[in-house]
Amino acid sequence: MKKDYLNYDKIAQRYNQRYSKPQHWERGQALFELAKQINAKTILEVGSGTGYWLNLLSPLTKHVYGLDYSMGMLTQAKGQAAPLKLIRGTATNLPLKKEAFDFIYCVDAIHHFGNHQAFIQEAYRLLKPNGVLAVIGHDPHADGSHYWYIYNYFDKVYDTDLRRYPSGTAILKMMNASGFKNISANIVEHIQNLHVGEAVLKDPFLKHDATSQLALLNEEQYQAGIEKIKQDITNTKGQVVFRSEIQVKMFMGIKS
Ligand SMILES: C[S@@+](CC[C@H](N)C(=O)[O-])C[C@H]1O[C@@H](n2cnc3c(N)ncnc32)[C@H](O)[C@@H]1O
Repeated sequence: MKKDYLNYDKIAQRYNQRYSKPQHWERGQALFELAKQINAKTILEVGSGTGYWLNLLSPLTKHVYGLDYSMGMLTQAKGQAAPLKLIRGTATNLPLKKEAFDFIYCVDAIHHFGNHQAFIQEAYRLLKPNGVLAVIGHDPHADGSHYWYIYNYFDKVYDTDLRRYPSGTAILKMMNASGFKNISANIVEHIQNLHVGEAVLKDPFLKHDATSQLALLNEEQYQAGIEKIKQDITNTKGQVVFRSEIQVKMFMGIKS
């Protein structure tokens, strides 16, 4: 099994917990506005997970497709209010006909795809002329725009992220190399959270299965990080500040 492979089937049932927080709406708004602006009538999300974003876009068109390799996530997606067209498959070899979509996007998923360039090429193949690709996510390579306390406490998580995530610059270069035009990058969401002392232990994103960063750790590695956090709380008499400041970006290009 590949080193950074995460089996989403294991966490599929609890995945939607993350959407109880309103902070995610900004990227949803950006997606919705873009799909509306380009009058997208055929939409595909790659790595669509539980179908949360597809459900949001479904008022725009009946032709809303989601592709994911995890059966567990696809099963959850069947529970969305909108009737989604769900396909099991892999992002680097999309089992769909060329020039079928007006809009293809992925959210928080490209870092799982392994061969990022292959995904971008596949998206190009499946888009109609003038169709749009949008890649939404954060960039741990970006200095100054990315701070997440989790990286300070859990060994190797940051290094793993640097390995898994393409940088924003790399995404733009890959889009260019695949033939996309009018390539751009915009900040679509700014996550800012502060937890002081013990309050951090209630951070939903600190749960072992809440993010792929922590879910990739075994129980021992995860508990070692939690112990470090608790130690810091004790050493500072509860005054330590745990900060998350993450820019979420949308990288997009148009098929020429
Ligand atoms: C962090 S989740 C994001 C789900 C959804 N986009 C969202 O924002 O809620 C990543 C998703 O990518 C899927 N995935 C990972 N690697 C994949 C691949 N190579 N091909 C298709 N889907 C993949 C996982 O099964 C998971 O559902």
